Amino acid sequence: MAFDAKKFIVQAEKDIKVKMGKDHAITAVSGGVDSFVAATLAARAVPGQLHIVYVDNGLMRKDETAKVKAVAIALGVDLKVVDARKRFLDALRGVTEPETKRKIIGEAFVRIFEDEAKKTDVKFLIQGTIAPDWIESGGMGRDTIKSHHNVGGLPEKMHLKLCEPLRELYKHEVRLVGKELGLPQSIHQRQPFPGPGLAVRIVGEVTEEKVHIVQEACDIAENEIDAAVAAGKMERPWQYFAALLPSKTVGVRGDERAYQYTVIVRAVRSLDGMTANFSHIPPEVLERISTRITNEIRTVGRVVYDITNKPPGTIEME
Ligand code: XMP
Repeated sequence: MAFDAKKFIVQAEKDIKVKMGKDHAITAVSGGVDSFVAATLAARAVPGQLHIVYVDNGLMRKDETAKVKAVAIALGVDLKVVDARKRFLDALRGVTEPETKRKIIGEAFVRIFEDEAKKTDVKFLIQGTIAPDWIESGGMGRDTIKSHHNVGGLPEKMHLKLCEPLRELYKHEVRLVGKELGLPQSIHQRQPFPGPGLAVRIVGEVTEEKVHIVQEACDIAENEIDAAVAAGKMERPWQYFAALLPSKTVGVRGDERAYQYTVIVRAVRSLDGMTANFSHIPPEVLERISTRITNEIRTVGRVVYDITNKPPGTIEME
């Protein structure tokens, strides 16, 4: 039977009310569709019992924090922004192993939410966890593909109880719920962004320099693909971004030898993120992305396009 967003909303609101009773909750929003939909459901179910928190972990897209603040103001949401950029970068210093990075990030988020919870009498953490997050995080006989920050990345001991109203849904269903709830299209149709942020688009150690490179490269890839879609040159991919490899390669700038980073451009078609096919992007669009990245980010000397499907690849690098 087709998914019925209206029925889901009625049931989810009832469930949230029963689960939370009179207790208060921290509602974590990241700017993505899942957390926004979860927060909106909760706001309808238990208004007056929520503390909406956005953590700036320094691993967000370019200008993301300003955009999230603007959306919150437009929707009349009272948003608490926690500046945790230093905390995350310090915790990730020297760490290269992908699962370790994910666990550090998952734990840092929870500890920040717990700190916020102490300031008020909060018992619950409302998260926008969806089905692929716990499926890929493993357990119950499944292999861990990657520990999603909000599931496998959670610390064993935490003081907040979880409330995850979207846990059984897939992304396309979450979008339908978001639409039904009346959220703006810019939110319910927004491309996915991973909870651990750009840390999983920087292969190996995360540094401030690398975050800056990936922010700029993602911004260029997104803008150029958006422009190509608007001009009718291609279909909008399900997800599209850039990532950074840790190794450098040799090139030339002018007539001088250059030894610089490689950026991977990734764009995929998918329904739910569980499987994906790389998008066929017109060569002139790829060329523009490559030229802009190497011209505008002077530490990048090579750009490659990822032509791997999932499986055997995954969408993100780590
Ligand atoms: P992968 O890389 O596993 O990604 O093929 C599938 C989808 O999930 C997103 N992703 C995450 N989302 N927390 C999230 O909320 C995470 O830890 C996480 N890891 C990956 C990814 O961007 C893609 O849309």
